Amino acid sequence: MPTLGEFTARQLRGLCEVAGLGEQDARTYQDVLVEALGPEAGRRLDLPPSGRTFLSDDHTPVEYSLSFRPDGAPDLRVLLEPGCGTATLEENGRAGLDAVRAMSRRWGFSTAWLDKVEDLFLPASPQGPLALWCALELRPGGVPRVKVYLNPAARGPARAAETLREALDRLGLTRAFAALPPGDGYPFLALDLGDWEQPRVKVYVRHPALSAAEAGELSRTADGPTAAELRDFAATAAGTAAGDARLSGLPVLSCHVFTDTAADRPSGFTLHIPVRDYARHDGEALDRAVALLGRHGMDPAPLLRALPSLTGRRPQDGVGLIAYLALAHQRGRPPRITVYLSAEAYSVRPPTG
Ligand code: TRP
Repeated sequence: MPTLGEFTARQLRGLCEVAGLGEQDARTYQDVLVEALGPEAGRRLDLPPSGRTFLSDDHTPVEYSLSFRPDGAPDLRVLLEPGCGTATLEENGRAGLDAVRAMSRRWGFSTAWLDKVEDLFLPASPQGPLALWCALELRPGGVPRVKVYLNPAARGPARAAETLREALDRLGLTRAFAALPPGDGYPFLALDLGDWEQPRVKVYVRHPALSAAEAGELSRTADGPTAAELRDFAATAAGTAAGDARLSGLPVLSCHVFTDTAADRPSGFTLHIPVRDYARHDGEALDRAVALLGRHGMDPAPLLRALPSLTGRRPQDGVGLIAYLALAHQRGRPPRITVYLSAEAYSVRPPTG
């Protein structure tokens, strides 16, 4: 029986190949992943997961994503919870901070943004469902770009808006909060920490029972995606022919990207559709992903090659391997489609039809 570290490192190896990363980079990133998981990496998979992380449905503290563009191989990212093996959320946050600080020393990037807001998101007795996640963008060269995900409701859901506004103010984004669309809470604040061309602050908004037509209205960028483009993406990803049908399962998330302290609008927007709650099985989710990639001029071949490196099961024999489909717009760049892929280290959700 493999350990969590062995299992996910093996998956990552196949994904690195799909993403066009070389042997050397793949080996480096396997080690980076195992190190970031800490002692949990050594836990055998015949034991139940040691915590009930909200990062993935089966509580594997790792999720992959492939971010497609019209030209070239997709970018590979891995989202993980460094504190997954700890007993309390407070320790979980500490372990997360330690892991991120170790990365900042290793790769020489600044944690200044995180330092500015740390007390807001990692208070003495944080509330759930997460304390700190980090995402690594695995680019060629063996040095990943690093993002940190924090919970605006860490000081309680009733204070989430206040916490978020305070954090944005401290980061110099005094006009960001007012630019957000209405929604039902803020599941994450994400900060770029590594060596990014243009570091971003990203705010996620939750939209329960949204329709595809309403999804068309969520972007607040000046020159972003059109309503028709967003509506089409949402309707196709969720498999709702009618644009006004409500997505009453897991909520759609919108993500608003802030890069410029002087601007009163976000510079980027992403629409996240939790396809796993709107498909009977992954065969259906995969068909939708392939259709959307094709429609946006992106080659679906890497996605088809990625799945067998994650699992030996057939797509139609479970649901949740494809967790989210997302359409991302960033000013001055062609749109991207991101496919979020579960590790399923612990369990597979059975198909629903
Ligand atoms: N599992 C959580 C959710 O479904 C968090 C999460 C994991 C997530 N990967 C994501 C959220 C990708 C948005 C996009 O919400």
